[in-house]
Amino acid sequence: MLKDIQQEILKLKKEKDICILAHSYQSEDILEIADFAGDSYALSVKAAKAPNKTLIMCGVRFMAETAKLLSPEKTVFLANPEAGCPMAEQFTKEYIQKLRDNEYKDYAVVAYINTTTDLKTVCDVCVTSSSAVKIVKKMPEKDILFIPDCNLGAYVAEQCPEKNIKLLDGGCPVHSAIKAEEAMEAKKKHPDALLLVHPECKKEVTALADFAGSTADIMKFAKESDAKEFIIGTENSIIQHLQIMCPDKKFYAMSKNLVCNDMKLTTIMDVYNTVKGIGGEEIVMSEDTMTKAVACINKMIELG
Ligand code: 13P
Ligand code: SF4
Repeated sequence: MLKDIQQEILKLKKEKDICILAHSYQSEDILEIADFAGDSYALSVKAAKAPNKTLIMCGVRFMAETAKLLSPEKTVFLANPEAGCPMAEQFTKEYIQKLRDNEYKDYAVVAYINTTTDLKTVCDVCVTSSSAVKIVKKMPEKDILFIPDCNLGAYVAEQCPEKNIKLLDGGCPVHSAIKAEEAMEAKKKHPDALLLVHPECKKEVTALADFAGSTADIMKFAKESDAKEFIIGTENSIIQHLQIMCPDKKFYAMSKNLVCNDMKLTTIMDVYNTVKGIGGEEIVMSEDTMTKAVACINKMIELG
């Protein structure tokens, strides 16, 4: 039955010239039918380059919005309209503009891509977890306000000691909830395993890791490493993907709580309904907002 649904999606997407993009946190059945799966950065690059006239994003809302900003001439759907990233909503554009006008007057504002399009309109450049250090290093400005993720921001600040980076109190509710004790407990339970964590985790967790990087970087590290066991410090869905990719290696969760409910919302039936034209939500934004917001995404691609 699942195979039939997948076959039908593959058939319809070919007939209708649709490209399906899926974040690596999506379920295996979705990754199997996606034209491309990857982390936030890779998805945005693919969205810009895909030749198809319609894109379906299996992920969260800011990813579909980014795809639309990069390909305004395309029809872009978010497969499950309820899937949002809580971090993206943490600060309003009015609040950030106020900071820019007052205490951070001469600062460049760097926005993690996990932000609303509206918020991007008052930022200078976007970054993803895999491109943040590279982009911040390349920026001519020394004084930087990094929003909204204070953990990723602290990680970037550590790698870029030449910059003066200020942070706000935002972050991913899933990754930042993990305590150092949980990471230590997992290491004690699996003493031969390497700990690989996402920089959205707290500083004290990242400090215990053998490697810190984006979803794609963690997967690449695990695939290429000679080690045989790994504790995964990001959304638990990638444990299964890694286990399928590397059947001779073992993967463990750093915490059973590393589950993003929003990323889990999209199902293969959402994709099926969107391809059929009876589901999903078409992303529509005002031209003025899109023109202002795309500048910082283009800057990200230029510097990344
Ligand atoms: P990356 O895909 O950039 O690793 O980000 C992880 C994430 O939390 C996406 O929402
Ligand atoms: Fe947002 Fe965190 Fe979920 Fe990623 S894992 S979509 S940052 S809440």
